[in-house]
Amino acid sequence: MTKRTLLFFIFHFSFLILFAQTISITTDHTQLVLQVNSQKRLCQTYLGERLSGQTDLSGLSMPQAGLSSSCIRGLEAYPVMGTEDYYEPTFEIRHADGNPTSVLKYQQHSQQGDLTSIVLRDEVYPVEVTLYYKVFPKEDIIQQWAEIRHEEKGKVYLGRYASSMLYFEAPNYYLNEFASDWAKEMQMLDQELKFGKKVVDSRLGTRANLMAQPFFEVGLGGPVRENEGTVLMGTLGWTGNFRFTFEVDNQHVLRVVSGINHDASSYLLRKNDVFRTADFFFTLSQNGLGEGSRRFQRWMMNHQLHKAKDDRMTLLNNWENTYFDFNEEKLVALFGEAKDLGVDLFLLDDGWFGNKYPRKDDHAGLGDWQVTKDKLPQGVPYLVKKAKENGVAFGIWIEPEMVNPKSELAEKHPDWLIQLPSRDTYYFRNQMVLDLCNPKVQDFVFGVVDDLMQENPEIKFMKWDCNSPITNIYSPYLKENQGNLYVDYVRGLYKVLDRVQEKYPDLYMMMCSGGGGRSDVVGLRYFTEFWCSDNTDPIERLFIQWGYSHFMPAKAMCAHVTEWNRRASIKFRVDVAFQGKLGFDIGLKGLSNDDRQYCREAIKEYKRLKEVVWSPNLYRLVSPYEGQHCVVQRVDDSKSKSVVFAYDIHPRYGETILPTRLMGLDAEAKYRVKEICLMPGKQSWLPCNDKVYTGDYLMKVGIKVTSTNDLASHIIEVVKE
Ligand code: DGJ
Repeated sequence: MTKRTLLFFIFHFSFLILFAQTISITTDHTQLVLQVNSQKRLCQTYLGERLSGQTDLSGLSMPQAGLSSSCIRGLEAYPVMGTEDYYEPTFEIRHADGNPTSVLKYQQHSQQGDLTSIVLRDEVYPVEVTLYYKVFPKEDIIQQWAEIRHEEKGKVYLGRYASSMLYFEAPNYYLNEFASDWAKEMQMLDQELKFGKKVVDSRLGTRANLMAQPFFEVGLGGPVRENEGTVLMGTLGWTGNFRFTFEVDNQHVLRVVSGINHDASSYLLRKNDVFRTADFFFTLSQNGLGEGSRRFQRWMMNHQLHKAKDDRMTLLNNWENTYFDFNEEKLVALFGEAKDLGVDLFLLDDGWFGNKYPRKDDHAGLGDWQVTKDKLPQGVPYLVKKAKENGVAFGIWIEPEMVNPKSELAEKHPDWLIQLPSRDTYYFRNQMVLDLCNPKVQDFVFGVVDDLMQENPEIKFMKWDCNSPITNIYSPYLKENQGNLYVDYVRGLYKVLDRVQEKYPDLYMMMCSGGGGRSDVVGLRYFTEFWCSDNTDPIERLFIQWGYSHFMPAKAMCAHVTEWNRRASIKFRVDVAFQGKLGFDIGLKGLSNDDRQYCREAIKEYKRLKEVVWSPNLYRLVSPYEGQHCVVQRVDDSKSKSVVFAYDIHPRYGETILPTRLMGLDAEAKYRVKEICLMPGKQSWLPCNDKVYTGDYLMKVGIKVTSTNDLASHIIEVVKE
């Protein structure tokens, strides 16, 4: 070999040796492999079931983008806008000189414990992006986010700042999304993803969801199924605008981009400030949605949900019972009802505040968090005291981010309101949103909680409502940087919630947003629970709870017994709410003695069984989407106790009732099956009642727990002998 040929080889291949980096990110069952290619681009080469050998990782490759659509020979982990790739990008930046492009090249990476970080840099502009991958091995969840920083002088705007790009290669792809509206949360809808893009996103500002939910599922190789098949389940942890893009490209590769919605959010990033994207969380289950849901619920319980290991309080809420029409006398009587029922807490809802503009309905008073003197002359301290005398804790409703134009707050601080200076204001529920980008407003919002707690340290619970999206998008505080509004609003909210959590770590809080409009997994770092929906019709709730159970733990899902759908018996309504975090929002005086007795006994049973009901080991056995029945089962970690919830909605005449096969039990063990929560004086007629079976039998043959009766329900306890 001549010296010249040798130099040629050294020159060309040292580059490869230098940059042929392989980065492997693994959980117990999943593996993501990234590789740096010869152009110093970081590419995904594998995402799937965990491989047993680590030696052949460098030989992995995924289909390359077609030459006509990309010059990068590989699937870039964080593709940029405007240079060599024409698919949906994750990142876009407008430099101080107006140039809207960048090229991100691998610099270095580190892997410490569960965290991998990979630094990418533009070699022309001083812009750095660090990609983070955090694994939760046992729960098989991967968390992804990016941090963006630059050292340019002048104004630099981020046009796109996704959290994650993932690629998949399968014969076909089916998206299961959760379409929504007020009182119609988490309705499952599936469709095949073919060539091109499908976007699921929201632009509500104050919350992630109303019409679309920040959760998705993709069946890789077939429609999603409960217990079979490969399925990707993902969610964005961001209490604001989100966007998922699913793009099937020319090579039939599925590209999934997840992040904050960049619409109307060109973000001014100052020199050396770090822009941290939202967190994206995903799992890749090889055994269908059921396994993915158990992973997500376990992860929420182990790592995410605020006070996940602590107990929860059953409660009586007055909203649907009194609405705004209450006074001291009425409330004290309700404390007595709460005591009689046996719940832990009374929750006072909307309508307790405002003096110049008393909160008689939803047209006035929001923002003026002083108790209405005419209505409650002795103030909140008296209510806390009276609740205590009745043996129940006291909780209170607030909506501190919002303001009615008819309020003293709006009169005093017009500059604190998000509103357009030059246009008519559009009101959603007669209210407006406070400008949480402004630190003074953050202080005010924190003060709403702080003042109540200072005056009433014994308040145990707050329901934090948020009934309006941002409607008139202009922040007086941000002035010419309006592109930062949607992002900084959410960051402002998190700053307030950080302060609340730090000062009041024992306070339980319900996240609510005119129903289930706020139900993201990062919100639940601050809140102990969330309101799933204003729709408490038990039939609708079967569907709504079914949907949320794909990601959310039962302990966090507030489920109240109300007057909605009185065709359903009180037993049916309680039995549906029993699946979540049980509460009541109903006038007890209107109930028969038997119904009231049923509620009391059910609460006792709930308290006895709550650890099993809240277990992440959920098995959705019979889907309400597929017929007129719904059966779900929870099993504790030791497989010694299980609870089965069975519901008949409107079965067809003469329908054949099949046995339901249980899951998750110990096949070798023997279990006694017993129906609990029966109406006073009633016996169980289930053929399996009080019988002993092996786990094997229960899982292979099953038991009949459904019926041909309209709106019937059964709660069945299965206990190891
Ligand atoms: C919307 C909530 O979803 C309801 O439960 C109730 O708290 C009202 N707001 C009060 O205005």
